[in-house]
Amino acid sequence: MIDQADNLRNLLNNTNRKDRESLDLSARVITVTSGKGGVGKTNFSVNLAIQFSKMNKKVVIIDADFGLANIEVIFGIMPRYSLANVLKGEKDIEDVLTDGPFGIKFISGGSGLKELTNITEKQMNYFINNFSYLDAIFDIIIIDTGAGISKSVVNFIKASDETIIVTTPEPTSITDAYALIKTIKEERGHMPKFKMVVNRVDDEEEGVEIYEKINRASGKFLNVQIEDLGCIPYDRYLVKAVKKQEPASMLYPNCSFTKALEKIGSKMMDMDYVETSQSVGIKGFMKRLVNIFNN
Ligand SMILES: Nc1ncnc2c1ncn2[C@@H]1O[C@H](COP(=O)(O)OP(=O)(O)OP(=O)(O)O)[C@@H](O)[C@H]1O
Ligand SMILES: [Mg+2]
Repeated sequence: MIDQADNLRNLLNNTNRKDRESLDLSARVITVTSGKGGVGKTNFSVNLAIQFSKMNKKVVIIDADFGLANIEVIFGIMPRYSLANVLKGEKDIEDVLTDGPFGIKFISGGSGLKELTNITEKQMNYFINNFSYLDAIFDIIIIDTGAGISKSVVNFIKASDETIIVTTPEPTSITDAYALIKTIKEERGHMPKFKMVVNRVDDEEEGVEIYEKINRASGKFLNVQIEDLGCIPYDRYLVKAVKKQEPASMLYPNCSFTKALEKIGSKMMDMDYVETSQSVGIKGFMKRLVNIFNN
């Protein structure tokens, strides 16, 4: 698997952009979302990316939370361009990649992903085709969405194959997570695989209890199964890392937050997910997204 990816990458380095695109590779696309805001999505996304990178995966994070400069704040870096520039045809996707730690890259969505409705077909094709490059270069693409049941968040989830819902033990966070799953279920069309992470727990027992509660309700009333990815304890080292604008996994590699992320990262690698070869990749994701926005 790794050998094959390496060979492809070597091949890519020796081929031009057009040839790359015709290779038609796909990356694993993981959407991270939540019903309620402020539950830890962005810190989860960034530190999960670091775990994957430690497993020799090429990872890019797309910040799809418009307006609030999320990932930029955690990495402490400011990108110059965003997907809005790609949508306007001003930049290619490789120009909007920003370097983060551990070889991770990130892309700011800017307003680029909110404006997928009022564009010409030519613009749309240019935009979608640009994503072939990300499929060819990256193994994993993590999309950090905003919170809540807004149209754009729902569309992102509908377009994805694998969605991680982050919740905390707070009752409002639990009910909002359930409401989000219900909304997705009620929309027609494609459904992603749902996975759940319970963040900021006091202990493992609390995490299991909350996962079971949500999974039971969504199984019974919505006929939706959710996979358990585990839980993350409340950790003041994470709070410290946020204040220092550096990922906790880098600053405090042995803290309980980092340890929990390590466990979740390996679990996700072991899990039977849509194999990369069968996955629609980020280009397929963007095609779906554009279709959803325009229907
Ligand atoms: N495991 C944890 N232990 C302690 N504090 C945490 C933990 N997870 C998150 N937090 C706190 O919650 C804050 C919000 O986290 P984060 O920005 O990742 O949430 P978010 O879901 O991305 O928010 P938004 O919905 O605004 O995008 C962090 O700055 C931190 O203070
Ligand atoms: Mg966030």
